[in-house]
Parts: sequence; C-alpha cells; structure tokens
Amino acid sequence: MTGCDRERLAGLIERERAAYAANFPGSRAAYTAAGEHLLGGVPMTWMRMWPGGFPLYQASASGARVTDIDGHEFTDFCLGDTGAMAGHSPAPVREAVSRRYAELGGATTMLPTQDAAWVAAELARRFGVSRWSFTLTATDANRWAIRLARQLTGRPKILVFSYCYHGSVDESFIVATDAGPRSRAGNVGAPVSPTVTTRVVEFNDAGALERELAHRDVAAVLMEPALTNIGIVLPAPGYLDAVRTLTRAHGTLLINDETHTFSAGPGGCTRAWGLSPDMVTIGKAIAGGIPAGAYGLSQDLSERILGDSTADIVDTGGVGGTLAGNALSVAATRATLEHVLTDDAFAAMIEVATYFTEGVRRVISSRSLPWHITQLGARAEYRFCDSPPLSGGLSNAAADAELDEYMHLYTINRGVLMTPFHNMALMCPATTKADADTHTAVFAAAADELAGLPSRAAEHRLAGLSGGGTGLHEQTTHIGRRRHT
Ligand SMILES: Cc1ncc(COP(=O)(O)O)c(C=O)c1O
Repeated sequence: MTGCDRERLAGLIERERAAYAANFPGSRAAYTAAGEHLLGGVPMTWMRMWPGGFPLYQASASGARVTDIDGHEFTDFCLGDTGAMAGHSPAPVREAVSRRYAELGGATTMLPTQDAAWVAAELARRFGVSRWSFTLTATDANRWAIRLARQLTGRPKILVFSYCYHGSVDESFIVATDAGPRSRAGNVGAPVSPTVTTRVVEFNDAGALERELAHRDVAAVLMEPALTNIGIVLPAPGYLDAVRTLTRAHGTLLINDETHTFSAGPGGCTRAWGLSPDMVTIGKAIAGGIPAGAYGLSQDLSERILGDSTADIVDTGGVGGTLAGNALSVAATRATLEHVLTDDAFAAMIEVATYFTEGVRRVISSRSLPWHITQLGARAEYRFCDSPPLSGGLSNAAADAELDEYMHLYTINRGVLMTPFHNMALMCPATTKADADTHTAVFAAAADELAGLPSRAAEHRLAGLSGGGTGLHEQTTHIGRRRHT
C-alpha cells in the first residue's frame, strides 16, 4: 500500500538513526544528563516523540528558523505544533510582552487590562460568536466550554469524532470500533470510562451522527471542522451543513475547536467556510507563543449562562484559572492578532502553503508514489496512502510508523523540522517559497533513496548537502547550516 521495499526502508532508518546520533552530540548529552531529575528526561513527556531516541535541544529561534545547541540552523515547519504559527518571537509580540512585563509591570494582578476587550472584539469579528473569555490553554478552553454546554442544556454527555484530539480533555479519549465505542488505547488515568461521558462517531458519517444525537442526551458536539490530529481529514461536501442541521434539530450545541484549523484563515474554518457554531474554542497560536487560550459563545448563550442563578461562574463553579486572562497573555494576544496573524499575513501564508503542496504533489506524481498531500490553509500534510482518508478511523488505519520515522529522521538530518507527531508542515508569516523548495528537495531525495534511485536524489540535492545524503559522513557534515561553530 505504501509502495516501498521494507528491507530497504529498515536499512535506511538504521543509517538515519546513526546519522542523527552523530549529528547532535550536544543534544544527546543534554538529554542524558536531564534524565536524572526530569520525568522521562524531558520537560514534557511528549517531547520523547521526536525520532532518534532524544530530542534536539533548542538554543534559539526566530521567524521560521530554530537553532540547536550544536549550532545547526533548521527550517522550521513544525512551529511548535501550531503554537508558533505567528513565527518565533515576532517583533510586535516581543515588544508588547517586554512592555507589559518590564515597563508597565503587573503581569498578574486580578485586575483586567483594556487589551482584553480589544482581543474579545477582534475574536468576535473573526469567528462570529460575540462573547469571549480567556484561558491559558486550548485544553482549558475546551474543558470550560464543555462545562458551560452541560449547564446550559442540562444534558450529561458530549459527542466527539473518532481519533480526534482536543487536548487532555478526559471525555475526548474515545474511539469508534466495529465492536462499539472504546477508551482510546494508552489513555492514562481516566476518572471513568469515556463511554460513560461521551458518544463517538466517525467524521463524515452523518447517519451515525443522527443516530447518536437522537438519544437527546448530548450537550454538545465538540469538533474540529477538519480533523488535524490524525492527519488532515477534510469534511465531505455538505457534511458540516448536516452537522449543524442535526445538532440544531436535537437541541445539541456545536463547539468548533479552531486551535489547529485556525490555519484555514484569520477566522479559521468557521469564517473561511461560513460556519455558525454556538461556541468556538482556540489556543496555541493566538498569543505568538505566550500561553493563552479563549472560548467564545453566542450572545444568546452568554445571556443565558449569566442569568442562570444555579451556575456559579464567578467563584467555585469550576470555570476559571488564576492566571487565565492575565495582562501578559492578553497583551501578547492583542499584538499577535493586531500586527502578526492579520488578514494579509494569512493570504501570504496560504500562498506559500499552496506552493509547498504543489511541490510535494509534483514529487509524488512524477514518481507514481501511492501517497498524497492535503492542504488546509497555511497547513499541509502528507500521508502514505493514495487517497485522502474520509474519517479518523480510516486515517489511523493508513498510518505507517516506519515511513514516518524515516521521513522525520531524513528531514531533520538535513536541516528541516516537521512535526514529530505526523507529517505536518505549517507556514508562518516568515516562511518563504525558498523554504518550501528546501523541503521539496529533501522530500524528493528521501523518496528516491527509498526507491533506490540515487541519480534522481542527486538531481534534487540540497545546495549545501553534498553527496545527496547517501552516506553517514556526508550527512554529519552537511545538515542545515552551522551558526556558532
Ligand atoms: C484541536 C486541538 N485542540 C486543543 C488542543 C490542546 O492544546 P493545548 O495542549 O495547548 O492545551 C490541541 C493540541 O494539539 C489540538 O490539536
């Protein structure tokens, strides 16, 4: 299905692992030392996801570039898995953060600043729902939106899509299987089985959605308008209309989680595709890398929740966090939305993403590979199957861990960072078409080596990568560009 010789692939992975170990001795030493007191040797356990057995340690980052502690510079398409979609430390955010923290002071005072109202008005303009509140993460935006939805509807359950990801929200770790809903494999410390709290269906299956909503116990459907965390799964024509019609018909609220699909445009998929959810949640990119999240409600819902005498949303009701909406994160959010992730910036980012997608697509078709690439605004992702899966379950079944590892090692060994979770590339305002060309050349070389076509690999050799990446010695001396050595 993935069209490659597995023995050859295993040999290439071995070679790339050895190259990785040799290329990044500083990171390897830092990781080994950190194991003494950091759980799993990393500040957050998902950092163990990087291929090669240890993560790169960053020294610095700017725009679309990251530099590691061994002095290699990388073209960064990972962009902090969307947290850095504004680019690393863009100047307006840098200035707003240092002004707020160093000049004005008062990052956390229990008092509002005027930036918050500006940001809320801007989020309302972009996403259509009119009343906003702040969190520090997208996870919390989802948790609090779910609580409000339960309170507003008096219903106990939520509905999500199989293989979705909405942060560490207990209710969402559920998949649909032929034998019925199941807790997702590897789920950690669930308070109760998610089958108690949650209904689950496959994306793009309106019939299944209708059947589940007919129980009339679902407070809200929590969805990404396109799945992004199991590869990109786009909605089939008419599907999102069906979701909206069915949720309305069954008294269920609709929450669009735009945390990743924000890549579709200034107002995410909600605005790009003319959607009308009851609530919107978002996080990650909106504050230019400073922790911030937000959730918005329609005016009607906001008036109902404020007027609900049984709902304590001020004190002990389970909605809120001490640092949520702090002056520093709202200052960073304002600077990001006002000056960096602007309407114009999105147009340019999407143009580069289209260029990136076309480059990868040319490589795939010129070599008749049974692979495909899908674009969602400023984000693109390739998968090792010939047509885009229509659901999370199908996309999960198409996963190829060995090919993922090979591509991740191959690109990182040549100065290109992709997200370690899958093969996602994101463009920020600083990403250029030349950066996309860099990736396309590395991608082509990786595909050609896999097919045993060294001559084609040579054609697509990176300017600074002598030997076409065919031997360990060449790789160790030619990843990226060294800055400090
Ligand atoms: C769609 C979506 N929602 C929410 C989250 C949670 O974000 P955070 O981990 O920043 O809370 C993620 C994280 O990847 C996500 O992809």
